[in-house]
Amino acid sequence: MSETHFGFQKVDEAEKAQRVKSVFDSVASKYDVMNDLMSAGMHRVWKAYTVAVADVRPGDKVLDIAAGTGDLTAAFAKKAGPTGQVVHTDINAAMLTVGRDRLLDAGLALPTAVCDAEHLPFRDGHFDLVSVAFGLRNMTHKDRALAEMARVLRPGGRLLVLEFSKVAAPLQKPYDWYSFNILPRLGKLVAGDADSYRYLAESIRMHPDQETLKGMMKTAGFGHVDVHNLTAGVVALHVGIKC
Ligand SMILES: C[S@@+](CC[C@H](N)C(=O)[O-])C[C@H]1O[C@@H](n2cnc3c(N)ncnc32)[C@H](O)[C@@H]1O
Repeated sequence: MSETHFGFQKVDEAEKAQRVKSVFDSVASKYDVMNDLMSAGMHRVWKAYTVAVADVRPGDKVLDIAAGTGDLTAAFAKKAGPTGQVVHTDINAAMLTVGRDRLLDAGLALPTAVCDAEHLPFRDGHFDLVSVAFGLRNMTHKDRALAEMARVLRPGGRLLVLEFSKVAAPLQKPYDWYSFNILPRLGKLVAGDADSYRYLAESIRMHPDQETLKGMMKTAGFGHVDVHNLTAGVVALHVGIKC
């Protein structure tokens, strides 16, 4: 059995998916409020930027992977309109359930499916746009997931990866202090779970930096990849075009 990372720990590959599942089972009900608190609302700005870059048109077919509570799914669905198709997917049923309820409350009845990004149950070339926000970091085989994302996109279709990334050097120390001191405390206070937010901080440090992820996307079949650094690299949006 091969080993991989779960935050700073080395674990068997099979164990990682189970541990990631436990994290999101534990935080699902408090996920949205924690996002607002941890990022001081900045996640809304990063997502709004992603939606603007996505430029979804009426009638587009969009797949939102690791969509969780559905912020991007809802925004894409409004742009794609009644002639479009926006699919809300995640590997975690608890996160999807919270998301599906929110989408229904917003008047959006969309196809919702539990699925693993590493084995997507969609045919080749079906989608105009695929997005994955703050999800790739948690996947065991990122290369397999990226290859699947390329497979389900039509030629010329785009993949948007919004993810925590490598912060600019002057911000490194305060960002580390915040991540390892404040985040777990906030997690304990609000979600009753310090460990999941310690995992969040660790998993960000283990995630490939901007250039490495760009290279991985090229290897997966994206002929052109642009990188947009947001908030000094706290987050990066990678936009890949399937060639
Ligand atoms: C931090 S949440 C992001 C939710 C949402 N995209 C957002 O931006 O608010 C990460 C999500 O990735 C999902 N995830 C982790 N591994 C996955 C996999 N292999 N396939 C699909 N989703 C996965 C988790 O279940 C979780 O809902």
